[in-house]
Amino acid sequence: MRRIAVLASGGGSNLQAILDHLAALGAAAPAAVTLVVSDRADGYALERARARGVVAAHLPRSAPDDALERLLDEHRCDLVVLAGYLRLVPEPVVRRWSGRMLNIHPALLPAFGGHGMYGHRVHEAVLAAGVRLSGATVHFVNEQFDRGAIVAQWPVPVRPDDTVETLAQRVLAVEHRLYPWCVEAVARGDVRLDDDGHVHGSLPYAFPRFAVEGPRHPFVPDE
Ligand code: GAR
Repeated sequence: MRRIAVLASGGGSNLQAILDHLAALGAAAPAAVTLVVSDRADGYALERARARGVVAAHLPRSAPDDALERLLDEHRCDLVVLAGYLRLVPEPVVRRWSGRMLNIHPALLPAFGGHGMYGHRVHEAVLAAGVRLSGATVHFVNEQFDRGAIVAQWPVPVRPDDTVETLAQRVLAVEHRLYPWCVEAVARGDVRLDDDGHVHGSLPYAFPRFAVEGPRHPFVPDE
């Protein structure tokens, strides 16, 4: 059983989706969330962790640079999953967990990513640009913000009457489906980051054909 650390600064709805997915897999789950880290003492993600009996650690901004690495070592974490984590992950951690660290971004990277692009700022930029398609991207983490190799993407339409809130809600709904699948696939070894810097393998679910082919009918979750 592989051991997952989830790092989350916000509400932790993606953390919840991952916990629920792995719980639904039961004995067939290839991994378990064994540690949740937040830089905010009052982050709801920590509550969600405690409710499932998962160790919840608050890592204050004032913590020493190597505090995160020590926590991950202490809990023998195989995979690190960033779920709305707003702190920079120190480079030694990024290097050591290369190919074993995932992030989710609420837009179709490489557009609308990079330093300072998180949460509602991303959706504001998408609306300001007037693009008609947004979505969610799961990628391996490397030293550059939002530039690691892409595991999967799920597009959603941008509607003319969208606000930041309505678009964020539509994207978040697909994040909750996409991220747990990617976490499971990487934990199983079905999807890997190879030495050539490319992602190999595929998700154990039928949907992501359009991850390579382009969507004919973008998925629109029930609203
Ligand atoms: C999610 O929309 C995630 O994609 C985004 O933060 C939100 C966290 O929500 N991450 C970024 O913007 C990273 N650049 P959650 O706490 O409810 O999972």
